[in-house]
Amino acid sequence: ELEALPPITQEFHSVLNKVCEQCYSDFAPDELEVGVREHILQDLEAFVRRQFAGARLQLFGSSKNGFGFRQSDLDICMVLEGQETIDDVDCISIIESLARSLKKHPGLKNILPITTAKVPIVKFYHVRTGLEGDISLYNTLALHNTHLLASYAAIDRRVKILCYVMKVFAKMCDIGDASRGSLSSYAYTLMVLFFLQQRNPPIIPVLQEIYDGKKKPEVLVDGWNVYFFDDLKTRWPQYGKNSESVGELWLGLLRFYTEDFDFREHVVCVRQHARLTTFNKQWTSKYIVIEDPFDLNHNLGAGLSRKMTNFIMKAFINGRTVFGTPVKVFPPAYPSQME
Ligand code: GTP
Ligand code: MG
Repeated sequence: ELEALPPITQEFHSVLNKVCEQCYSDFAPDELEVGVREHILQDLEAFVRRQFAGARLQLFGSSKNGFGFRQSDLDICMVLEGQETIDDVDCISIIESLARSLKKHPGLKNILPITTAKVPIVKFYHVRTGLEGDISLYNTLALHNTHLLASYAAIDRRVKILCYVMKVFAKMCDIGDASRGSLSSYAYTLMVLFFLQQRNPPIIPVLQEIYDGKKKPEVLVDGWNVYFFDDLKTRWPQYGKNSESVGELWLGLLRFYTEDFDFREHVVCVRQHARLTTFNKQWTSKYIVIEDPFDLNHNLGAGLSRKMTNFIMKAFINGRTVFGTPVKVFPPAYPSQME
């Protein structure tokens, strides 16, 4: 039922390429904005330490993984010095008392503790910048996956651009908000990375599969192995073999997920190059299955309804037609401020 695409000319590839490059330069934050985030973090840490003496705050998510937007939220993880972990009961009581304390911060508004979520958080709104943020406790795996994503982003400029394009596409098609039943930015980023690993020749390696010696090193966090190769100065064997443009890759990605990848059969899995099946994982009841790189019990697509799954697949199918049909002019402008 997919419509046939006309042949893609060199000229159209260059149009696609421009659109992708433009998307990146329009939405990537500059150094100043990166500095503002660090500044807010330091101010918050100083404030929080008045009540929790050993508190340490750290940014993660898109403020740190290389795929942040100007208006992306501030994802902050708090730990207490000298304390390795926290149990659920303590976590909720600290979140509640943290919320009470933040309500007294003059620069913040809309303080809201959310203690029923899988990861309890305090949400806030930073008045001067208009940024939203949340603070979670001991979200250690998220710090590690942030570092993993940042490492992939650092390997090749095309990784970064494509992840931005994917996020803009998801927001524009209204398929990129996990709190409203679709997939998170994080899930779409994993889809892009998986595609780039599976491309032939690959654009990026599988960092979790690179190691010296016979056995994969084990670095356990919350019971999961968070090892990955992060010595990015060492070149991997197929480095630089793929010379496709970002535009070609973007259309390639839309075609991959609509024409080649069999969601019924396979898992989007960035931790190994060999295809993992939904059967292996006992995740056959879901159509879109995206495995977290470290928490192997976590399927990022678990919360999708059937209706939402269809809606997302339709967005990819339409995207394939729109970006796969040559036009001479740039597609109509997208809104320059993302929500
Ligand atoms: P934007 O905020 O949309 O720019 O992207 P983001 O990568 O910061 O996404 P988000 O704020 O939704 O999530 C913050 C971080 O939480 C992610 O980057 C991951 O490091 C981590 N994370 C781990 N598991 C999950 C998950 O199941 N859902 C989401 N949303 N985030 C997760
Ligand atoms: Mg975020």
